[in-house]
Amino acid sequence: MWPILRAIATHRACRVRAVLLRSAGDDAAPIEFAMTIALDLTINGQRCRTQAPDHWTVLDVLRDGLALTGTKDGCGEGVCGACTVLLDGLPVRACLVLAAYAAGRSLITIEGLSESDPLVDTFARLGAAQCGFCTPGMILSARALLAENPAPSVHDVREALAGNLCRCTGYVKIVEAVLTAARSYACASALSN
Ligand code: FES
Ligand code: FES
Repeated sequence: MWPILRAIATHRACRVRAVLLRSAGDDAAPIEFAMTIALDLTINGQRCRTQAPDHWTVLDVLRDGLALTGTKDGCGEGVCGACTVLLDGLPVRACLVLAAYAAGRSLITIEGLSESDPLVDTFARLGAAQCGFCTPGMILSARALLAENPAPSVHDVREALAGNLCRCTGYVKIVEAVLTAARSYACASALSN
């Protein structure tokens, strides 16, 4: 009997792998096929050349390929926002973006922000991070907001972070941290002018 190709979904809904079932039946170990692609991208300001299976997402490349585990793998389905990174300055869910799409582009992850960054500082100082799982995604969404709107209102912050879920803080301290960071960025920019 000819081998049968079938697609199976992994625990992540966005990944589909082709599995070759041997004629001996489903008990035989499946053989997985994955084309490897070369990726040339900029991560946190550094040029990066790597290779990855063609079905990998940006999240897979960051965490499994490059050990940049600051970007969190929450739902894997685009719901929680824990995997948010900046792609050419815009917040995206890394679990939903194929790595091939990021080729030639620029990524910012939480590792690209220093501890003295106002957002990193205010999240830590004002108790906006408890377990911290959502924090990298929150901070990067907030950074995209402040790049576009340096003096946001509470409503603006809540709207910008609406796609980032937190199970711990209740959001009040998170919003406060973003507003405080906005003032710090404004001060730093006034002093540098
Ligand atoms: S892990 Fe990507 S949105 Fe939840
Ligand atoms: S601090 Fe725990 S999920 Fe947000």
